[in-house]
Formats: sequence, structure tokens, C-alpha cells
Amino acid sequence: MSGDERDSALLRTAAVTDAAELARLSAQLGYPCDAATMRKRLERLAARADHAVFVASTGGGAALAGWVHVGAGLWLESGECAEILGLVVDAAARRGGVGRRLAAAAERWSRAAGFERIVVRSNAVRPEAHAFYPSLGYALEKTQRVYGKTLTP
Ligand SMILES: CC(C)(COP(=O)(O)OP(=O)(O)OC[C@H]1O[C@@H](n2cnc3c(N)ncnc32)[C@H](O)[C@@H]1OP(=O)(O)O)[C@@H](O)C(=O)NCCC(=O)NCCS
Repeated sequence: MSGDERDSALLRTAAVTDAAELARLSAQLGYPCDAATMRKRLERLAARADHAVFVASTGGGAALAGWVHVGAGLWLESGECAEILGLVVDAAARRGGVGRRLAAAAERWSRAAGFERIVVRSNAVRPEAHAFYPSLGYALEKTQRVYGKTLTP
């Protein structure tokens, strides 16, 4: 089995039936969410051609080893590129190449969609991510602070 065949055996597009597992792994990313909410998000994303969610199956049952969400970004000032919007590998499956395969799936989707560049924003508190992305050829371009505000009606 070639590397590409092994990848396609492990990786597939997310299905709504993955919602509970996507939610479980989202909690590991620091974003807890119930399965019903995750399912609604997934249904909305599945209806969009400019976003994709790929999962790594474990080969047994419904359990997932990880997921990646990639989408098109469009900025007035800098144009468009693909963006990895979320990526997580189950804590029990880390350092086994799953993250590398999920990132490769996001890159394949981005190339096929015509993008020449892909970016990812990653929280400074994730030391493993800051070893992971450079090892895949991603260069640190800047650091940011993210501000948020609750909008009252
Ligand atoms: C970051 C993360 C996705 C990596 O997934 P993974 O499946 O463990 O990564 P891989 O096994 O494919 O690792 C690929 C390479 O990245 C580097 N790397 C990954 N994790 C690392 C770690 N903890 N320390 C040092 N290097 C690491 C290594 O160079 C590794 O290659 P090697 O194993 O041949 O040395 C995973 O640790 C994770 O889900 N972390 C929590 C969530 C997170 O940070 N997500 C990214 C947010 S944008």
C-alpha cells in the first residue's frame, strides 16, 4: 500500500454521524461542545463549498483519532488564502503521524481549490503546535493578540 493509499484509508470527509466524536475532540482543543451543537455546525459547514472537515478514523468503530477544519479566507488588505481553522489529534493518538496526515489533507484540499498559500493561527499556549507546524514547513510570520466583546442587543 502506497503512502497516499494509506492516507485515503485513514482519512475521510467528516459525516454528521461523527458529531459526538468531533465534540469529544473539540473539548481536548479547549472548546467543549455537545454533540447536537456540533452536528448543527457540521451541517452548516457541509453545505459550504469553501470549507472542509476531514477526520482520521481509527479503523475500528466510531472513534476518531483527530479532525481538521480548513476553509477559504478573504481579507480586504491581503487577498485570499486557505486557512486551517482547527486541528486536533486525540491525546491518546499523538506523535503517531495523524496530525501530519490531517494537515496534508487540508493542504491537498487547498491546492485543489486553487489556493497557493495556507495559514494557521495557533494559540501561544500550545507548545506542541509550535513544534508541529514548523516541522511541516510552516514559518512563523507574526504573533497576535485576539480581542473579543460580548454584543448586547
Ligand atoms: C499539535 C498536534 C495536532 C500534533 O498532532 P500529532 O499527531 O501528535 O503530530 P504528528 O505525530 O503528526 O507529528 C508531526 C511532527 O510534528 C512535531 N511534533 C508534534 N508534536 C510534537 C511535540 N509534542 N513535541 C515536539 N514536536 C512535535 C514532530 O516534528 C513530529 O514529527 P516526528 O514525530 O517524526 O518527530 C497535537 O499535538 C494536538 O492535537 N495538540 C492539541 C491541539 C493543538 O494544539 N492543535 C493545533 C491548534 S491549531
